[in-house]
Amino acid sequence: NSNINPNLSLLRKWRNSANTVFSRRISLEAKKADQDGFVPFLEMMRCRRSEASKSVLVQVQSAQSYKELHSYCSTFGTVNNIFHYTAGGEQLHFLIVEFSKESEVQQLLTYSSHVNDFEGIPVQTNFLWFKASGRKSKLKQSKSIKLDIENGNCIPKEEDIREALRSCNNISEQISTLHNITTLNEVATRLRFLTARQVEMCLLGLFPNAIAYPFGSSVNGFGKMGCDLDLVLRLAGDKISGESRLVFHSKALNGYDRSISQRHMEVMGDLLQFFLPGCTQIRKILQARVPIIKYYQQLTDVECDLSMSNMSGVCMSDLLYMFGSIDERVRPLVFTIRKWAKEVGLTNSSPGRWITNFSMTLLVLAFLQQPDNCPPILPTFNTLIKNAGSKDKFVTEDGINCTFLRDIEKLKYKTTNTDNLESLLKQFCEFYSSFDFSTKAVCLNEAVSITKPEHSPLYIVNPLERGLNVSKNVSLEELEKFKYELRNATWILESQEKKTSNWGILEMFESKRKVYPSNSVIPSKQGRLMEVSKLFDDTEQTQESVIIKNENVEKEIQ
Ligand code: CTP
Ligand code: MG
Repeated sequence: NSNINPNLSLLRKWRNSANTVFSRRISLEAKKADQDGFVPFLEMMRCRRSEASKSVLVQVQSAQSYKELHSYCSTFGTVNNIFHYTAGGEQLHFLIVEFSKESEVQQLLTYSSHVNDFEGIPVQTNFLWFKASGRKSKLKQSKSIKLDIENGNCIPKEEDIREALRSCNNISEQISTLHNITTLNEVATRLRFLTARQVEMCLLGLFPNAIAYPFGSSVNGFGKMGCDLDLVLRLAGDKISGESRLVFHSKALNGYDRSISQRHMEVMGDLLQFFLPGCTQIRKILQARVPIIKYYQQLTDVECDLSMSNMSGVCMSDLLYMFGSIDERVRPLVFTIRKWAKEVGLTNSSPGRWITNFSMTLLVLAFLQQPDNCPPILPTFNTLIKNAGSKDKFVTEDGINCTFLRDIEKLKYKTTNTDNLESLLKQFCEFYSSFDFSTKAVCLNEAVSITKPEHSPLYIVNPLERGLNVSKNVSLEELEKFKYELRNATWILESQEKKTSNWGILEMFESKRKVYPSNSVIPSKQGRLMEVSKLFDDTEQTQESVIIKNENVEKEIQ
């Protein structure tokens, strides 16, 4: 990225870990795909799933064990790649070993042993550990394989991120730097697909075609290091019923109601809890609209949300992946806005009345489609639907039409907008500061604003299911807080004169240092000044910022 200051060693360090699933491709298939340019979502998923099925995760004593492990594994086949990472506060060392064929992994697993029956469940998955040999063997230095220790799986430290942002030359550079250093890297991506693979392996006997599809931020191009892994488990995989005259006997699905599917989820949760190594903190959330099992896979350090519902979440990820790939400014902008929203307390990791990261992403995408951006950076969703080819047809089993263009090379839309990231960030804040949320809905399907069909404070039309509001959970208070923070951000970005240590987007993130500007007092519906303290919840951090903001409001009133 030309925006990165090449002199900074910190940035250089991070640049190594900033290779995304999309820009750095190590496997043979992926390299092939790279030569053809854009990799469509489903192709990327296929490559990543194939990589995972050819890989095992092995706990070792130290990174240096790779030589011994490589030599051991080479007796089962050709090792393509070895990646190192640590977990458990850098105490535990792991290697991801990727073979050239799935059958080689199969051989290795067949030959691998279990711990003593009394000490462990004799389960066979892709997660293993490497016993010390007990004798010192002289190992040849492997020339054919280089250990990847650059990527790791560490979430960048906040202080390192800030340091990198401070040393940028301008706000646009800060925005692209933030994206580069926080985006999901190669190892973190592989670990997510290995986590999904473990779930599939657990079911292999009964459901040999089962697929656990990763979706959400782990694969849609908007994932940062440490993001959760959303999984949807499809027991039949993508196998379409064939012509065979021999048909498997099976239990009837008559009366397949919600309670039965909840029981299935419960069984799945129990399997994870009692049989699968590394799966801990299992929580079954079965009463939700979409029942999920939450768990933490401690060997890969990934928080997981497993569901068994339909494929619309995967299609949504495909759509977001598409939008993120159309223009290189989209992802950095989304990363910065999501980070800002987190820092100022607009989003929250626990579910509630807050705007979610997903909704925030849709808000950014809808802004980038606006004709006011003369010309718009992104096409509308309707344009993607109109440009769809015959291969793009897909309707989920519950009738959600997910037909839209998946290959950007076939997109008959090219923007001539050359605004830089700083300008786009300002425009985003201004656009939503003056957006009429009380009557209008945000919609990605067309670039004209549409009237809200109902009275939720924030209405974002679900592009795939147009009757649904993605942000139905958002309270009026939270929406007001959003508008308030937008004005604050606009003001900070406008008034950047001399560079203090926390300048640019760093100042946007610092809610405590904000000064409430004179021309941004929020009028309430009754035309009186709104009590700013009402706009905030009672967390410690926001309490402090409320006090500062209130003082300033008082000054304004005086
Ligand atoms: N999703 C959806 N409709 C919703 C909510 C979620 O289609 N109303 C799908 C989207 O594909 C979304 C995914 O479910 O990306 C996962 O949701 P979530 O984990 O909440 O968001 P992420 O995009 O994964 O972001 P985060 O990094 O916060 O997990
Ligand atoms: Mg998620």
